Amino acid sequence: MQLTIKKAHSINGNIAVPGDKSISHRAMMVGSLAEGETYVAGFLPAADCLSTMHCLESLGVKIDRLSETELKIHGVGLRGLKEPSDVLDTGNSGTTTRIMPGILSGQDLFAVITGDESIRRRPMARVVEPLRLMGAKILGRENGKYAPLAIKGTRLKGIKYDLPVASAQVKTSLLLAGLLAEGETAVTEPAKSRDHTERMLKLFGANLEIAGTTYKIKGGQELKAQEVDVPGDISSAAFFIVAALIIGGSSLTIENVGVNETRTGLLDALKAMGADVELLGYEEKSNEPRAAVKVSYSPLKLATIEGKIVPRIIDEIPIFAVAATQAEGKTTIKGARELRVKESDRIASLSAELKKMGADIEELGDGMIINGPTRLKGARVKSHGDHRIAMSLAIAALVADGETIIEDSGCVAISYPSFEKTLISVVKFQ
Ligand code: S3P
Repeated sequence: MQLTIKKAHSINGNIAVPGDKSISHRAMMVGSLAEGETYVAGFLPAADCLSTMHCLESLGVKIDRLSETELKIHGVGLRGLKEPSDVLDTGNSGTTTRIMPGILSGQDLFAVITGDESIRRRPMARVVEPLRLMGAKILGRENGKYAPLAIKGTRLKGIKYDLPVASAQVKTSLLLAGLLAEGETAVTEPAKSRDHTERMLKLFGANLEIAGTTYKIKGGQELKAQEVDVPGDISSAAFFIVAALIIGGSSLTIENVGVNETRTGLLDALKAMGADVELLGYEEKSNEPRAAVKVSYSPLKLATIEGKIVPRIIDEIPIFAVAATQAEGKTTIKGARELRVKESDRIASLSAELKKMGADIEELGDGMIINGPTRLKGARVKSHGDHRIAMSLAIAALVADGETIIEDSGCVAISYPSFEKTLISVVKFQ
């Protein structure tokens, strides 16, 4: 599959983006472990979330699709998962692959988890090692560094653990394992990663202590089914936010975007660069804040991204890099080595593809330096099988002279199947 995109004249109007991917995963996982029926609205029906859904169904959870975006989950309780009769396929979803071992290690079952070629390259030791400290029995390639992972459920005990790298997936895996463990589990991370699990667990009635970046949970707490309203995904909105900022004459409102502050690093970075971005109608539902994001074309100047903002912008760095190609001056991104182990090596894939379009980018071990503004030109580029690289290149194409062809664009369906349709509905082409 390939996407052909021409230079845009402007982008105007009102759109909504699909549900938040991280929250959709968590609503299904926590809902499955709860007692009673959980209703989810605003669910993201994209490949990654469907991977989680299929894994949970294979573990004996009944999930009714009331509509494309509405689910009814028949919770089985903390220890009610059943042994699956086959390997659990997590597809391209790192979140599913890393959180499921935490859920499965304390159940009375045997399960094998694996995913696509990208998943089988991604580091798993970060979750396998602390789970083993809790008593988990997990085997995997290279002693648990890589999937497939084989898990034999057992009795877990609470531990105190300092994460070497901030990670919401690892934090979540350990907290959910902690719910199934004896005693207390305390997890500390070096910087705050997204806190959707903490919010979701509290919504479902769990008692979770949070002090700075330390999270403590006691085992054996019963979760009570809830109604969960999932806000739109700021990581999907990000592509349209940047498009409206860099295409002259644009003004766009994106409704109902999740604006949890562990996710809004992109908005802060862009505002510091001179972006005209406003939040309207802020409200909180299901323990998650949301607002409309109004954004208008703005001349941008350089920024430096490093330190605590990195986990708050991590998934948006590819599209942020596109904005930086249009900003005046030298933008530096540092301390983001994690980008090298995402769906693709995002530092390498982004630098290579944006260079083909004429961008001035220097790769660093843990980030990149981007000199702007540059006049981009249409080119034949590749997604590297990475949904966020594909969509970032599509937005770059809107400001590039001529035509851009994005090869292997089917991966967009991992997080945003309706991306192209929405794009076409709001972009006026030249
Ligand atoms: C996610 C956490 C982040 C993020 C990923 C989704 C999650 O990774 O990059 O796309 O849903 O928990 P980390 O585990 O590295 O924080």
